[in-house]
Amino acid sequence: MIDVRSLRMRYGPFEALKGISFQVQSGEILGLLGPNGAGKTTAMRILTTYLYPTAGTALIDGLDILENPLEVRRRTGYLPETAPLYPDMRVEDYLRFVGTARGLGGANLNRRVSWVQEACDLKPVWKHAIAELSKGYRQRAGLAQALIHDPKVLILDEPTSGLDPLQILGIRKLIKELAREKTIIFSTHILQEVEAMADRIVIIHDGGVVAQGTQAELEAHARPKAGKAGPLSLEDIFIALLTATSHEP
Ligand SMILES: Nc1ncnc2c1ncn2[C@@H]1O[C@H](COP(=O)(O)OP(=O)(O)OP(=O)(O)O)[C@@H](O)[C@H]1O
Ligand SMILES: [Mg+2]
Repeated sequence: MIDVRSLRMRYGPFEALKGISFQVQSGEILGLLGPNGAGKTTAMRILTTYLYPTAGTALIDGLDILENPLEVRRRTGYLPETAPLYPDMRVEDYLRFVGTARGLGGANLNRRVSWVQEACDLKPVWKHAIAELSKGYRQRAGLAQALIHDPKVLILDEPTSGLDPLQILGIRKLIKELAREKTIIFSTHILQEVEAMADRIVIIHDGGVVAQGTQAELEAHARPKAGKAGPLSLEDIFIALLTATSHEP
């Protein structure tokens, strides 16, 4: 469903992505895990066609992001690091506005607006101005705009950042439910997030993929570097792989 092929990104003299490759199967939740500055947001902005890579490409649902950016956007829902909200708009009007901008209208728009209201649990703030919303409801409104056009693919940049523990559980549950019919990539630097949500994990560091696989596969990969007997926690794995630094080819 998603095929990332040797993506490189250079900001002036600085190479933020040094050729990353990975795949995501249909219906899978992939956790993109990496420390601050690893290149997660850069990769997500390229996949959603908001940033043009220096080299490499990716296919989303068989479509090349460089050749068919508009089609890719139609099939993709994107929650950026800072959700693109208009503070003066009321939640309902904002979602109707975004839905219309993405080509929905009439009964179809009404149906999708009701669906995101329910799915993202926005009823309590439906008539409120976005400026009045708590961080958790802002994140939910951001998720609702990513979902309004019913995309096959969801790209979520730190979807639970800044939320309290109860809100985190709510968003995790929603993402898990969405994965029944969508393919999802989310980024985080929090180990518990990938443990709780991801079917597979790609660890990036300094613009390169250091390891990818299920948690069990990563454990096997990290074992020789961990210098420790017994089961490895995701934290042990992360530290072992990051301190061993060499990137995948
Ligand atoms: N527009 C830009 N111009 C120059 N450098 C940039 C730009 N955007 C990002 N970078 C640099 O590229 C690297 C990767 O940044 P990116 O935002 O992709 O990391 P990240 O993994 O999302 O980090 P975080 O966990 O802090 O969100 C960082 O060193 C960052 O400073
Ligand atoms: Mg980021």
